[in-house]
Formats: sequence, C-alpha cells, structure tokens
Amino acid sequence: MVVLWRCEICGDPYVGDSPPKNCPFCGAHQKYIKQAKLAKVTFDVSLNKKDRENAEHALKIEVSNAAFYFCAASKTDNDEGRLLFKALGKIEAEHANIWRKLLKLDAAPKGDEPCHIKNRENLEDSHARETRAIAFYSTAAKEAAHPRVRQIFEALVEIETDHLQLSEERLKK
Ligand SMILES: [Fe+2]
Ligand SMILES: [Fe+2]
Repeated sequence: MVVLWRCEICGDPYVGDSPPKNCPFCGAHQKYIKQAKLAKVTFDVSLNKKDRENAEHALKIEVSNAAFYFCAASKTDNDEGRLLFKALGKIEAEHANIWRKLLKLDAAPKGDEPCHIKNRENLEDSHARETRAIAFYSTAAKEAAHPRVRQIFEALVEIETDHLQLSEERLKK
C-alpha cells in the first residue's frame, strides 16, 4: 500500500510503500522521513543575528555548489560523472531552497561557477567543496540558537558527508 511521506528537512512529499533511505530531494537520512500527516516541518522561524548570518552563508555555499555541479554535469569527460554531478546539483539546489524558505526570500540567487573538463578535477573540486561545507555546517550547528536551524545544519552535515564519500570512492581508482 502506498503512503504519503514527508521529509522534515526540505518539507517535500514522497509517495511510496516504504520511507526512502534518503530523501530523494535533499538526501536527508531516513530518520527525518515521516508519514506526511505526522511530519513536523516549519520554515517560519525567528532567526537571531548569528543564525541569520549562518543561514545566509549556507545559502551562498549551496547556490555555489549547485552551480558548480550543474556545470560539471554538462562538461565532465565521463558518462557516470555527468550523472553523478547532475544528481548532486539537484540536491544542492534543494538545499539552497531550504535556506531560501527559512530566510523568506522569493527566489534563490543564481549561481555561476566554473568547473573542469577532466572528471578527476571535478571530483577533487567536489571533495574540497563538500569538506568546506561540512566544516561550516558543523560549526553553525553548534552555534545555532533555534532548534530548527540546528536540526537543518546537523542533517546537512550527514548529507554532505555522504557526498564526500562519493568523490572519495571515485578518486581512489
Ligand atoms: Fe528532503
Ligand atoms: Fe548541500
């Protein structure tokens, strides 16, 4: 029997007979996926100065990383790489959207980032970007005054760590 699920991180709904292991939109882990009527999701949060600053910086990171991945998806010289970077671009764009909603902006800014032709260089760039994002999100989670802001930063640390693993596996070869 199919059920309507909802991700508590990005708020998006999903129809399926069981909750996905990772949100198909933002990559959040299964613990955040609840039956839609039971899911607790809000983007209406009052942000103190630090939470706002960190949310604004997170939005910049996600917009930049999404633009980088979409560039790599079109230019990288590897078929599987093109698919990987497209998938990652969509997830990072969803992350940008989370911060856009929290910051009550009508639209996320448009990113414009260079990328590489060589797949290995794109994987290295991805690794560096995800490493920087994880470091910032870990600090921002600790600094968070609002529990919703902390929850999102903690979930993003897990998701970006999954992304790190994807580039590490491929760089080993
Ligand atoms: Fe999600
Ligand atoms: Fe992200």
